[in-house]
Amino acid sequence: MLFPDYRPRRMRKSDAFRRMVRETRLDVADLIMPLFAVEGKDTRQAIAAMPGHYQLSIDHIVKKSKEAFSLGVPAVILFGVPKRKDALATEAYAKDGVVQRAVKAVKEAVPDLAVITDVCLCAYTDHGHCGIVQGQIIDNDASLDLLAKTALSHAKAGADMVAPSDMMDGRVTEIRNVLDEADMSHIPIMSYAAKYCSAYYGPFREAADSAPQFGDRRTYQMDPANAQEAIREVAMDVEEGADVVMVKPALAYLDIIRRIKDEVDLPVAAYNVSGEYAMIKAAAERGWLDGDAIMIETLTAIKRAGADMILTYFALEAAHLLNA
Ligand code: PBG
Ligand code: ZN
Repeated sequence: MLFPDYRPRRMRKSDAFRRMVRETRLDVADLIMPLFAVEGKDTRQAIAAMPGHYQLSIDHIVKKSKEAFSLGVPAVILFGVPKRKDALATEAYAKDGVVQRAVKAVKEAVPDLAVITDVCLCAYTDHGHCGIVQGQIIDNDASLDLLAKTALSHAKAGADMVAPSDMMDGRVTEIRNVLDEADMSHIPIMSYAAKYCSAYYGPFREAADSAPQFGDRRTYQMDPANAQEAIREVAMDVEEGADVVMVKPALAYLDIIRRIKDEVDLPVAAYNVSGEYAMIKAAAERGWLDGDAIMIETLTAIKRAGADMILTYFALEAAHLLNA
């Protein structure tokens, strides 16, 4: 394969040739749309660092879900912004909590759209940590029961899949057991398996009102410097019964996505997180980048790295372009 016998440019000559040799095809079916549910009616509260995204009351969540489905997006993932927070994250597993009601409403309106729920406590605890707190410590084992209760309440409300994002050790086992005991063995678990402690979550914490009130998440989320550890984290969640394993964030962690894809025989999800969305939107607003082109290039790169599905705030915009 040496010049002048081999000329790579030959197969780049036309759009027809480029399409024929294209290795990665971004598809609408790859995309999962995150939505933020708040209490109230006919409420759309803009999220400053995420242009085009809002905290939505349930009626608007239903509208957006219908739009996603009609564009061919197969799934949404719901996050809740509850009316009150307390030490035990009571609203996270309340039968009439905002996520539980949102799930129900979406499944009634758009039964064929898959509804995934984020399972965590940080938006529901008054201290903003993903688990239960004793003093300044995030208590791993004391959190498991509440996380499993939360997952079960989502499943009972009609969620098609639950996605624990808390990063407590052992929570996949606990959730699997509780679901199975409640005759919910058909509900899969998408585990945020390799979730890094990342500054890229900044805009999300405004959207979900979930910033920690003391300290940070470094005692439970992964150190961005570690790759080998991601393999252990993911292997553990596979053993515990995860059905889909996620790497999060996506862009600064494409190497991790690839390694997990190569090592693990399960579907791999990647979360194109809020800060990644915000950076592109900010640059595009200033005319510094072509927003649409960067969006498609970025999502294609995440898929090329090995993601079978991509959670992304671009889902509807990308779907519009891909369907055009
Ligand atoms: C909650 C959760 C977070 C995200 C998803 N679930 C924030 C965090 O862990 O602090 C981040 C998503 C994003 O930034 O888009 N545990
Ligand atoms: Zn959390």
